[in-house]
Amino acid sequence: MIKRIGILTGGGDCPGLNAVIRAAVKSAIMHYGWEVYGIIDGFDGLINTEKMFHMDMSSVKGILPRGGTILGTSNRGNPFKFPVKEGDEIVTKDLSGEILKNLLENQIDGLIVIGGDGTLNIANQLYKRGANIVGVPKTIDNDLSMTDYTFGFFTAVNTASEAIDKLHTTAESHHRIMIIEVMGRDAGWIALNSGIAGGADIILIPEIPFDLEKIVEKINLRRERQSHFSIIVVAEGAFEKDRDKQYIEKAKNEGTLPRYGGIGNYIASKLTEMTDMDVRTTVLGHVQRGGSPTPFDRILASRFGVEACDLIAQMKFGFMVSLNGKDITSVPIEKVINNQKLVDPYGQLVETARRLQIEMGD
Ligand code: F6P
Repeated sequence: MIKRIGILTGGGDCPGLNAVIRAAVKSAIMHYGWEVYGIIDGFDGLINTEKMFHMDMSSVKGILPRGGTILGTSNRGNPFKFPVKEGDEIVTKDLSGEILKNLLENQIDGLIVIGGDGTLNIANQLYKRGANIVGVPKTIDNDLSMTDYTFGFFTAVNTASEAIDKLHTTAESHHRIMIIEVMGRDAGWIALNSGIAGGADIILIPEIPFDLEKIVEKINLRRERQSHFSIIVVAEGAFEKDRDKQYIEKAKNEGTLPRYGGIGNYIASKLTEMTDMDVRTTVLGHVQRGGSPTPFDRILASRFGVEACDLIAQMKFGFMVSLNGKDITSVPIEKVINNQKLVDPYGQLVETARRLQIEMGD
């Protein structure tokens, strides 16, 4: 019998997290009659249980349109490699046993974990060790498999498309090449979708390594046709053919992912050498993670929150809610993790871009 559930958000934040929390809290309290505990800062809040708090309907008042997460998040708190200070040194310890103990002691019968690949990996390991966990897929990158879309993605695409629209007018006025670098890690979903929506001339994604000569050819062709500007959308993880190296900063802490960035400026410096045109780069950065979720993301997130409670009610632990076509369904977390969903270079969306005469750089 379920009496009390917990809810946490892990990894990078993403528009729509609050909409999931709100839906889950409402459904848990009003539909199922459960008690709900919010867990602050991801798994950290299950190690330090002072970070757990009782939630009621007033806890989720007014949060639907808000970006971020009222529960806080962390992409450093892997409990299996938790950084602990010992003397002057930081060592990593496996504190997963603490989490399992704290879940039991606090009588959390079911735990909703909202996160991307890293967070769901941790969730799956905890589930295998006995925690009653269900997952909700989250990432602006849309690179989680076994779900058609993650919430937050279309909000990020919306932000990037608006930025491209704004760059268009200034690019045209100044006859410039404008490069916009967007997020997405190893996946080109944000670049491809925002590039199509924003009418980009060139889109570069990690799934299709690019050739600088092809980019220059496209720019020159446009000039011959009296378009004296070009818009290039580049995914942060894109890389040049034969170079096989993404622009990655080394991870600063054990257990955290390396950071991407720099490809936009690299292409700008090359195009400055290879053309006589003025080139500027905009790195869109974390604005893509902020702001109010679009209606699509609010609805998807709300449906995920409701379904997560249903999974707990059915004791379907170890599963993640997912969007399959028009339906919300569920899939084993095990099948989702370590199985990144990338853009198919031969798929319909890339083909659409090519038919629109968008240069994909290959
Ligand atoms: O995974 C989401 C994401 O925004 C990526 O697109 C980006 O590479 C990364 O997170 C940035 O992470 P951080 O917030 O740690 O800089």
